[in-house]
Amino acid sequence: MYFIYMEASELKEKYIEFFKKHNHKEIKNSSLIPENDPTVLFTTAGMHPLVPYLSGQKHLQGKRLVNIQRCIRTGDIDEVGDSVHLTFFEMLGNWSLGDYFKGDAIKYSFEFLTKELKIPAEKLGISVFKGDKDAPRDEESAKIWISLGIPKERVAYLPKKDNWWGPAGITGPCGPDTEMFFWSGEEKPPKKFDPDDKRWIEIWNDVFMQYNKTQEGKYIPLKQKNVDTGMGVERTIAILQGKSTVFET
Ligand code: GLY
Repeated sequence: MYFIYMEASELKEKYIEFFKKHNHKEIKNSSLIPENDPTVLFTTAGMHPLVPYLSGQKHLQGKRLVNIQRCIRTGDIDEVGDSVHLTFFEMLGNWSLGDYFKGDAIKYSFEFLTKELKIPAEKLGISVFKGDKDAPRDEESAKIWISLGIPKERVAYLPKKDNWWGPAGITGPCGPDTEMFFWSGEEKPPKKFDPDDKRWIEIWNDVFMQYNKTQEGKYIPLKQKNVDTGMGVERTIAILQGKSTVFET
């Protein structure tokens, strides 16, 4: 088999250690009831407790952080029951608060997936933001992936509904993202990445949080360019254990 069997505890430890090696400081899991965000009922992502720091406030632990955050997400509740969606899950995240941006974020993701988890690059598909009136097409991320060895046909450009993350509530930090998909099919992965083929499973996203969405729906550049990534523990473990659904992990 191509994958290395791994328990969730090992994945979490590897993730934290990898980012600590790259000068990130570990921060604690926050409460599922957000402390600083009256716009949502639950912590749906690791970014909630970090909103003030994404907006420019200095974090006591520095500009590079790493964490494991428990999340409750009801946005896609109708999809729960398929092989990958959960309402409660854990998310691994590395954070740059105005420090590194697309280049290092994508390099760290690629290195972690292919070297630490030993996922073959041939099994990866990538999506990037297609661009619209609010933000440009993300050629930069596409180029970085291609420079790392991902073939051009494996990079798909998708619109805001797929490749944009945040704000958590109605207003606040948000931005385009690049998403990493794993080929879970029995047969050889197709040359071209087709995001509509459900055998491609999203496992991680790198969000480039560089805009503040205002009450009027405008996207204003933030004071600093941030990175917010989120890797689903259950999905990744299902892959590493060769299981066909997250419920079997
Ligand atoms: N990194 C953003 C999210 O998936 O929650």
